[in-house]
Amino acid sequence: MSETAFPLSAETSNLKRSVMRDLLCHAVDPEIISMAGGLPASEYLPVGEFLDCIETVINRDGSRALQYSPQSEALRVWIAGYMSGRGVPCTPGQIFITSGAQQGLAILSRLFLDPGGPAVIEDLAFTGIQQVTRGRGAEIRTIPVDLEEGIDLEAMEDALRRSPTPRLAVLVPNFHNPLGVTLSAEARRRAAALASEYGVPLIEDDPYAALRFSGEHLPPIKAFDDSGLVFHIGTFSKTLSPAVRLGWIVASEEMIPTITAVRESIDLESSTLLQRAVVEFLERGRLEPNLERINDAYRERCRAMVGSLEANMGELARFTRPEGGIFLWVELQEQLDTGELFDEAIERRVAFIPGSVFSGNDSHRNTMRLNFSNLSPELIEEGVKRLSDVISSAPGIR
Ligand SMILES: Cc1ncc(COP(=O)(O)O)c(C=O)c1O
Repeated sequence: MSETAFPLSAETSNLKRSVMRDLLCHAVDPEIISMAGGLPASEYLPVGEFLDCIETVINRDGSRALQYSPQSEALRVWIAGYMSGRGVPCTPGQIFITSGAQQGLAILSRLFLDPGGPAVIEDLAFTGIQQVTRGRGAEIRTIPVDLEEGIDLEAMEDALRRSPTPRLAVLVPNFHNPLGVTLSAEARRRAAALASEYGVPLIEDDPYAALRFSGEHLPPIKAFDDSGLVFHIGTFSKTLSPAVRLGWIVASEEMIPTITAVRESIDLESSTLLQRAVVEFLERGRLEPNLERINDAYRERCRAMVGSLEANMGELARFTRPEGGIFLWVELQEQLDTGELFDEAIERRVAFIPGSVFSGNDSHRNTMRLNFSNLSPELIEEGVKRLSDVISSAPGIR
């Protein structure tokens, strides 16, 4: 954070400026093939249909669509039905609407974690998860991750068992950001059981579940929750549009008033207009066909990325082969440092995110995250070729 002539709160001092945003500033040149971001495919954002939904809502509801109002009951009903269909039987009274998944993380962190308290997160974690744990001064215990199983459950148990008892744990079960890996049903069952056994609230951050383009859907961790200790977070950011800034928390009904109080200390409510427009979109049955189009495109894009990684970097790298989501993870030879390769990559007009950004301690320096959702297969192939040129000519490559 920048120096100021006046003191900032301890929490602010802990927050890191987003390294990712800084890196992405470099990648604005239109000639750069950027596999760095995490944007949904722009060409599949439902512009015309959503415009029509907004118009319908304003014509129908007039000033009520532009007023403060309680959370949309229709939206909570839809989300409760959607979650029940995923194996989490719940009532609309258990749904709390947030302004995106990140706000869900921020609210739950405030709810459970005192500054300095212990928190359990994955060794490689989305920067937004780090901000609401490490960034709030938590004593971080990490769970090692791997490219096949996702997390080491024995290590998770050790972290939960240690005294003092952690105030929360966070997992991303589907198409993990940044790794692209997915937890098995058995691992989910075990994670829910561990939360219950050690009495630790487990935050299931699940923005990517609906973006499955191969294999079978798996029940959320919340589906295995007998103790009410699993708090599920969902979002419309990746399935409809990140600009609607709408997500949700599934919790027990008794927790909703407390969650409401915490949220109102940050932000009074989500946009009435956008909640109503999203309900209109959902009730028109537009989400499913939209998802099918997105997932067809992401399947093809992921295939293009995996195919060109195999063709160009088979000898140089290990990488994940996601069954959904928008990212995959690349591990290079131990001695390479992707932070050092970044400038060279920009010179060759290709961008990625160095993997160390997702670790809290600058480790995993030989790794990178690649995004495949917002580039055509042709650009992905060209991007991976450029990247493999950078890597194969890196000093120290064997
Ligand atoms: C794992 C994870 N959690 C939360 C978020 C935040 O999502 P939202 O746009 O709904 O706030 C993201 C966004 O990329 C993410 O990858």
